[in-house]
Amino acid sequence: MSSPVSLTQYLILKQREKGLIPGELRLLIEVVTRACKRISIAVSKGALGGVLGDNGTENIQGESQRKLDVIANETLLEANEWGGHLAAMASEEMDHSYTIPNRYPKGEFLLLFDPLDGSSNIDANISVGTIFSVLHLPEGATEPREEDFLQAGVHQLAAGYAIYGPSSQLVLTVGDGVACFTLDREAGSWTLTEDQLRIPETTREYAINASNQRHWEPPVHRYIGELLAGADGPRGANFNMRWVASMVADVHRIMTRGGIFMYPRDARTPDRLGKLRLLYEANPMAFIVEQAGGAATNGHQRIMEIEPQALHERVAVFLGSKEEVERVTSYHRDA
Ligand code: AHG
Ligand code: MN
Ligand code: MN
Repeated sequence: MSSPVSLTQYLILKQREKGLIPGELRLLIEVVTRACKRISIAVSKGALGGVLGDNGTENIQGESQRKLDVIANETLLEANEWGGHLAAMASEEMDHSYTIPNRYPKGEFLLLFDPLDGSSNIDANISVGTIFSVLHLPEGATEPREEDFLQAGVHQLAAGYAIYGPSSQLVLTVGDGVACFTLDREAGSWTLTEDQLRIPETTREYAINASNQRHWEPPVHRYIGELLAGADGPRGANFNMRWVASMVADVHRIMTRGGIFMYPRDARTPDRLGKLRLLYEANPMAFIVEQAGGAATNGHQRIMEIEPQALHERVAVFLGSKEEVERVTSYHRDA
C-alpha cells in the first residue's frame, strides 16, 4: 500500500515537477490551511469551547456576527499577517481590506476569505466552513489599495474551502483540477483523499431556498417549475431537493455527487444583485466547480468574468453540473 500524500507533498509536486505554482504561493496556501485546522478544532469543541452563540456585533453587511465568525476571522488574520507572503487581506467580517503592517515582511499576494460560512447553522451543529481566494497584487502596485482586490475571478491563482463536518475536509484548486484532503486529526495533517474530482455533467438533484419562491424572477420560476413537475413534466424525470443553508456544505455535496446550487437574485431587495458575495464566496466556488468540470454563472454570464465594483459586492449564483447550469442560464437569456 502506498503511503498517504500530505497537502505539503501535493503542493511541492505542483511547484517542483509541474512548475504550476511559485514557492511563495505554496507557503501561503500552507499557512491558510493551517489556520483552517485551528478553526476546525475550535468548531469541534462546540459548547465545551464556549464558542457558540451570538457575538453581539454586526458586520458591514448588517448581519449579526456569531462568536465563531469573529474567532475564525481573527485566526486567519493572525496566521497570515506575519508570514511574508501577503500584501493585504479582505474578509466578509471586515469593513475594509487589511494591509499587512509595516513591522512584517510583505509579499505579492492578496487573500480574500469568508472565515466562517453558514454561521447561522453553528448552534444546531450543522456543517460550516471557510472559503478563500488568492489573487496577485496588480502589476506595478506597491502599496495595496482596496481597488486591487477588484479583479475578475479568472485572475484567481488558487481557491479553496474547508468544510467542518463529521470529518474536516479541504477542497483546493491551483488551476490544475481539484483535490480533496481530509484532516487526519491524530497526525494533524491534511491528507489527500481524492485527486482530480469531477462533477457529473447530468444530475437529478438541486439546491435552492424555496421559501423565497414568491420573490423569484420568471426564469427561475420556469426552471424550478419544470423540476417540480417531475416525470410527468417537460423534463420527464423526478428531481430531488436539498438545502443545508451552508454554501460550503451544499457545494461539497455537489462536488461529491453532482447537482445544481442556486441563490438567485430576487425581488426582496431589487437594488441587490443576489445574496452571496462575489469576491470571497462566488468566485472561489466558481473556480473550484469549473476546475471540476462544472459551470458557474449569475444567470447571464460566467461568474469568473464579472468585473467587480466593490469589495462586498453580491451576485446571483447558479453553479454545479454543467448541463443544468447551462439550462437555467439559457432560460435567463430567453427572458
Ligand atoms: P455566511 O454564513 O458566510 O453569511 O453565508 C451564509 C450564506 C451561505 O452559506 C448560504 O448558502 C446562504 O447564506 C443561506 O441563505 P438563506 O439563509 O437565505 O437560505
Ligand atoms: Mn458565507
Ligand atoms: Mn461567513
